[in-house]
Amino acid sequence: MKRVTIKEVAKSAGVSTTTVSHVINNTRKVNEPTRQRVLDAMRDLNFQPNSVARGLRRGETKTIGLIVPDVANLFFAEISRQIENIGYQQGYSVILCNSDNNLEKQGEYINTLMSKLVDGVIFISAGDSSKELQRLSSSGIPVVVADREVPLSLADVVILDNETAGYTATRHLINLGHKHIGCITGPQSITPSMRRVDGYKRALADAGITFNPDYIISGNFQFSGGRQAMTNMLRLAPRPTAVFVLNDMMAIGAMTEVRRFGLRVPEDLSFVGFDDIEMATAVIPALTTLAQPIKEMGAVSIELLIRKMQRNSSEESNQRVVLQAELVVRESTQKVRDTHG
Ligand code: RIB
Repeated sequence: MKRVTIKEVAKSAGVSTTTVSHVINNTRKVNEPTRQRVLDAMRDLNFQPNSVARGLRRGETKTIGLIVPDVANLFFAEISRQIENIGYQQGYSVILCNSDNNLEKQGEYINTLMSKLVDGVIFISAGDSSKELQRLSSSGIPVVVADREVPLSLADVVILDNETAGYTATRHLINLGHKHIGCITGPQSITPSMRRVDGYKRALADAGITFNPDYIISGNFQFSGGRQAMTNMLRLAPRPTAVFVLNDMMAIGAMTEVRRFGLRVPEDLSFVGFDDIEMATAVIPALTTLAQPIKEMGAVSIELLIRKMQRNSSEESNQRVVLQAELVVRESTQKVRDTHG
């Protein structure tokens, strides 16, 4: 369908294109009868102002780019919803980009957002992204990185204290008498996963429990990865009596595999997850987990970005905001049974 031009609106209203432009952009007072004729013509012709052209004139497009690694993961869905909600309330359109944990796709999306002249970007990286971030920040576009660590020189950072949260999760299982505690990790290169494993190891050391490297099995932060990792975990001898899984999507997959194997949760195996996505309470038994302040992380990220965009304060030193997770005890954990010792 051919796009209606500003010239056609001017002809229909019997005015100049300059007058039409002043009505669209409120850049000069136009007498009411003329203004109404222009508005009627725009309505009758279904004219849509060219927002990118207007953005070029104004130096802003009122759009924000949001790049996340996996929109199917409810953690990213919930944080994206919070960011979009607050951005919309503040008059910004949010362009959601799903990198699918793929660095090449992530780079292409960064090019797209730069070409669309977005006013700012919130970025949850799919892995080591310093090069991409360097490109973004040197373009002058304000950037806030959420959830995953990057050098502070490149952007504001809003993250969780993952090491302490990993410690708390593992300590909870130790306090229930578990000594054979497995750990299903996220992708190795992801900083939150590495920090949570650090906390897991520190809790074992503090309790005098020898760390068994065979008990660390890699996952991919997805349901399928949790099932696959648990299949391998069940083959270990002695079999763990408890498992700390580094996100809820994998924990739900792992518990599915345990039941398929003919074992019970928590009677035979206790589980602690991470994130506290809505699904954590929907599964049976409900999942004990480390609740991330997902809404707060989204809100702090978008508010930091809007402040940066509106003050255009790219020269201001970047901030690093560290949030805390909270242990939420549900039915997927219980005291170790005597037979395990
Ligand atoms: O569930 C996805 C995981 O990746 C979350 O734990 C979040 O912290 C992100 O790093």
